[in-house]
Amino acid sequence: MRIYRAKDYYDMSRKAANIISAQVIMKPDCVLGLATGSTPVGTYAQLVEWYKKGDLDFSEVKTVNLDEYKGLDQSNDQSYFYFMAEHLFDKVNIDFQNVNIPNGMETDADKECARYEAKIKALGGVDLQLLGIGHNGHIGFNEPNGQFDRTTHCVNLTQSTIEANKRFFASEEDVPRQAYTMGIKTIMQANKILMVASGEDKAEIVKRAFFGPITPEVPASVLQLHNDVTLVGDEAALSLI
Ligand code: GLP
Repeated sequence: MRIYRAKDYYDMSRKAANIISAQVIMKPDCVLGLATGSTPVGTYAQLVEWYKKGDLDFSEVKTVNLDEYKGLDQSNDQSYFYFMAEHLFDKVNIDFQNVNIPNGMETDADKECARYEAKIKALGGVDLQLLGIGHNGHIGFNEPNGQFDRTTHCVNLTQSTIEANKRFFASEEDVPRQAYTMGIKTIMQANKILMVASGEDKAEIVKRAFFGPITPEVPASVLQLHNDVTLVGDEAALSLI
């Protein structure tokens, strides 16, 4: 595992964007696994800036996102599709045919999860998977005490995740209770993993994830078993390690 200490959020975002850029330059038709949440926003902003300068080309890049709320359609401004369009896809020359996000409007969970997992396989797997980390150690929407061997599945969000994400909704009742997410197994099959973490409130969970016991209680702790993980954190997030 490599750990890069960034001075602050901006520095973290630039370092993470550099790693993603390197992937895109080395393999223009790579499969990028992308994440939502507030942490990667600066990373996407940096990629957009470099794209605008002519340094990056997304025309052949394929993307697969980690997760999507069940019940929200793409035009809902709280859907992860909307988030990705707003922060990255609408601002670079990506072909929307190459964009993959679970379909939150598919009510048949088994069908949607099987479709998504098959799509990832058909693309040849993920070259580089970007991850954030939830306060309870979740990655994607893999909440604590799930199984490590799961592929894409439908999850019930925990109260702590609903609490953490309610700031983006009009009220807590509006936060969807379920989501489709790549499973831990899907995430672990990525060739490379890049985690971004920012802020003092993430320091404890980052320490537990990377230096604590490997346990389903802290889903991100499984990353200790992956052979190509890079953690880019700002000083606050890395302050306990
Ligand atoms: C959500 C997403 C995760 C993300 C997490 C942390 O629950 N499903 O992929 O890592 O939030 O978000 P933030 O970066 O805003 O702390």
